[in-house]
Amino acid sequence: MTDTLYTGISQLVTPRPGPQRGAAMRELKVIENAALLVRDGQIGWVGPAAEAPRADHEHDLGGVAVVPGLVDPHTHAVWAGDRLADFEARVEGVSYETILARGGGIRSTMRATAAASVAELVALARPRLQALWDSGATTVEVKSGYGLDFGAEIRMLGAVHELAAEFTLVPTLLIHVPPTEGREAYVQAICEELIPEVAREGLATAVDVFCEKEAFSVAETRVILEAARTHGFATKLHADQFHALGGVELACELGALSVDHLEASGPAQVAALAASPTVATVLPGVTLHLGLPAAPARALIDAGACVAVGTDLNPGSSPVFSSGLALALTVRLCGLTPAEALSACTVNAAAALGLGDRGALVPGQRADFLALHSADWRDLAYTLGANPVRGVWMGGAPVTPSVQGAV
Ligand code: NIG
Ligand code: FE
Repeated sequence: MTDTLYTGISQLVTPRPGPQRGAAMRELKVIENAALLVRDGQIGWVGPAAEAPRADHEHDLGGVAVVPGLVDPHTHAVWAGDRLADFEARVEGVSYETILARGGGIRSTMRATAAASVAELVALARPRLQALWDSGATTVEVKSGYGLDFGAEIRMLGAVHELAAEFTLVPTLLIHVPPTEGREAYVQAICEELIPEVAREGLATAVDVFCEKEAFSVAETRVILEAARTHGFATKLHADQFHALGGVELACELGALSVDHLEASGPAQVAALAASPTVATVLPGVTLHLGLPAAPARALIDAGACVAVGTDLNPGSSPVFSSGLALALTVRLCGLTPAEALSACTVNAAAALGLGDRGALVPGQRADFLALHSADWRDLAYTLGANPVRGVWMGGAPVTPSVQGAV
């Protein structure tokens, strides 16, 4: 058993472990002049440096702030092709929904992704995951959903499986958009063929459905998620991105792990989430890139809900390759305080993935942590356009090249 003691920590800042709701999201523990002991990949001890226990090894971090590793609970990091023509069209006034209804948007990414091999998908996704990692994301969820057919969905999940040898990933089967014809038979085949196969092969831990006018109805979403539950999957929803159709209420009724987007949610959806353990995941990159209203994250926290933040990294609605930037944008666009944003990106994001073993720097949690460039942790929420993260540790091991030179 090897112990490593990290010293030279100006501030060690952490939320309490487990999902934090409402005002508790602001209650961070801040230890000035701190030390952190890592033992067997877990946090062994944290406290004032003056009280630190002895250890086999010691690393002086040089007087910087340390926070938990970020968890990105919502990405579509595996895709082929690009959406640059869509981007230009949108800037000129064509809406995201119109592009999708015309057969472009998500459907164009599906055509490109279906034509790619697993090896090509892995090569395309690797630098995106590396960028998230460098930005401080120590655990990243990755969805399928660009498979035109079931074989392509399985290939996407196969790519995530391969990449999981290099990164800490949580794979989700996303049922994204229906075919233009025969949707009833498609939903039935999802329930009777795709979900059972993904369960048999152990390729995902949760099933997500895009519940929206241009995608699946509330009734279809219910059928798919009930089949998912039967096969032992956790459930998640994309809901209220453009229209509040009832997806949030369905998520709460089914006990989904999270319901994500919420840009069109109003007081009824806020009240439903405040009364539910389902995590409300907001995606500020979508607000920035599509010019949508911000999700009511401030109202959700004030009402007592558990709010998480994700990048939603994808080529169409959120080309955000930094979890730290998602954190910083949530402060600007959704009115979260820096403390709330840190809880949203750590313990609450972990809860959105059903993970209780990470996100807080307390004994027994995974030793996933970040050393910032700054002595003040608030630089994480303040900095835009540069990386405030100097080093990333996963399971107690430094994982970025910059860290290896620095410690
Ligand atoms: O979460 N809106 C639905 N799905 C993704 C976007 C996917 C895409 O545009 O390629 C999202 O925003
Ligand atoms: Fe998404």
